[in-house]
Amino acid sequence: MGAPAPLTITPLSPCVGAEIGNIDLTQPLTAEQVNALKDALGKHCVLFFRDQPIDLAAHRRFAQYFGELHIHVGGEGTASKPDPNYPEARVQHFDRNSKRVSGEVWHTDQSCAAVPPMASVLHQTIIPPDGGGDTLFASMYAAYDALSERMKTFLIGLTATHDGAKLFDKGTKTVYPISSHPVIAVHPWTGKKLLYVNRGQTTHIDGIPREESDAILGFLFQHIENPEWQMRFHWREHSIAFWDNRCAQHRAIWDYWPNVRSGVRVQIKGTQPPVPA
Ligand code: SIN
Repeated sequence: MGAPAPLTITPLSPCVGAEIGNIDLTQPLTAEQVNALKDALGKHCVLFFRDQPIDLAAHRRFAQYFGELHIHVGGEGTASKPDPNYPEARVQHFDRNSKRVSGEVWHTDQSCAAVPPMASVLHQTIIPPDGGGDTLFASMYAAYDALSERMKTFLIGLTATHDGAKLFDKGTKTVYPISSHPVIAVHPWTGKKLLYVNRGQTTHIDGIPREESDAILGFLFQHIENPEWQMRFHWREHSIAFWDNRCAQHRAIWDYWPNVRSGVRVQIKGTQPPVPA
C-alpha cells in the first residue's frame, strides 16, 4: 500500500473552522498527516471530521498524537465516564432528564486550571433528530485583531482571574481551581496574539478596581461573541470536532430537549500556561 492521499482542508468560514477530508481516524495516522493536522489546527482553531465511527481506543489514539491526555479539573459535572480505566474520557450524554448540558456559556475549556487543556476532541454518536444541538466556535485571533489599537495597548500586560466555581456544577466538588492568566496571550505554535478571557470562567481583571474590571470584561465578552468571527457546526452521527483551546472559544446550543444528544470527549494536556503577549 502506498502513502495515503494528502488531506483536504476546506475552510468553513473566513476566520474559524475547517473540514478535513481524505482521512480515516479508525486507523493509525502517518507523521505527515499528524503534522498537517497540527498546522491546520493552529491556523483554523477547530478541525471537523465527518463519518468517523471511532471507538474509545481510536479516540484516545488520535488525541495522543498531539500530547498526553488531560483529566478534567472540575469533577464530573454533567458528564460521566465511559470506562473507569480511562478517567480522561467523558460521556456527554443529554436527554429528557438532563437539568443542564455541558458548555452552554461561551468558554475556553478549564481556563481556571494553571495549565488549561491544549485541545479537545469531541465525537458525537447520537444527534437530535430535528436538527438541534449545534456548537458555536469563535476565533480569539480575530477577536483580538478587531480591537482598536488603544484597547490592545491597554490590555497588553494585564492578567485576569479564572475561577472554575463560576462555571462548573456545584455539588460534585466544592473546591475548584482558580488561576490568573494574561488577558492577551500568544499562541505558542503560530506566534499570533489572541484574546484570553471568557464569560464562563473569567471573574475579574487583576489589579484594577472591580467596577472598571466589570465594565471592561462586559465589553470583551460581548466583543468575543460577535458573529463576524464565529461559525456554527451542525453535527451528524460520527462527526468529530477537534478544537484548539488556546485560540478558539465555543458554546453548545441546548435547543433539542427532550431529544437525545450523546458523545464522548477526550482532552489533550497543555504543555505550558497561556503565554503573555
Ligand atoms: C463542551 O465540550 O464544552 C460542549 C461542546 C458541545 O457539546 O457542543
